Amino acid sequence: MFNGDLSFCEIGSGAIDKVKILMNKNVKFYFPIDISFKFIKKASKKLKKKYPKLKIKPIYADYNKPFKIQNYKKTTKIFFFLGSSIGNFHPGEDIKFLKNLAKCIDKKSFVFVGVDLVKKANIIEKAYNDKAGYTAKFSLNLINVINRNFKCGLNINNFYYRGVYNRKLRSIQGFLISKCDQSFKIDFKKFILKKDEKIQVEVSNKFTIKSFTKLAKKANFKTHSFWTDKLNFFAIFLLKR
Ligand SMILES: C[S@@+](CC[C@H](N)C(=O)[O-])C[C@H]1O[C@@H](n2cnc3c(N)ncnc32)[C@H](O)[C@@H]1O
Repeated sequence: MFNGDLSFCEIGSGAIDKVKILMNKNVKFYFPIDISFKFIKKASKKLKKKYPKLKIKPIYADYNKPFKIQNYKKTTKIFFFLGSSIGNFHPGEDIKFLKNLAKCIDKKSFVFVGVDLVKKANIIEKAYNDKAGYTAKFSLNLINVINRNFKCGLNINNFYYRGVYNRKLRSIQGFLISKCDQSFKIDFKKFILKKDEKIQVEVSNKFTIKSFTKLAKKANFKTHSFWTDKLNFFAIFLLKR
């Protein structure tokens, strides 16, 4: 499908673990686009060690705002927005993100988007309330981050995590729930949390093939192809302008 030299452009590249699998000799340039300078720097350095000939051009940017990628040596640009990050936007933000992306790319470029599909509520809830407690640990770590940044002395043991699937919104909502009445201060402002009060810390929207195709179309993209796994749990869409 892709002939000649390629440029891989990864949106929200993070640790560059996924695109690394797809690297081949036709990929001449790699553009990681991420808001975290620390992440881009560290991950790019590691990638360069593995692929010394690959030209890595980190782009430190907010992917919700216009960004520009140079067309080095007329390569075909392939963009990746992997994982299920497209589901992590609040209502209306996903279309804004895609519309901005459509403006940032040319007609010859391709965009791969990972999409988590709607499935039975119990399957989704099981994944977000995993037995090993990874999601809970990840979400509760926000308490450590808040403490580190605002020195407000919250006790992580006074919270627990729950992921709840909202069928109407087709969305997982992750909550930190207060185990007791408690209060804390941020910048001298006092916050009171009652027992069982929830703080929403995550949104993960699920799509159907139809709903994502519609969203992409509204954002001025055409669906070139899509693939799903055997169970129809997850899809990869290939979009063109
Ligand atoms: C969940 S990680 C995904 C990493 C990788 N794409 C993957 O699928 O494994 C999300 C990445 O997006 C970056 N990110 C989040 N919001 C962003 C924004 N507005 N602009 C650019 N990067 C962003 C984060 O810094 C993080 O590295």
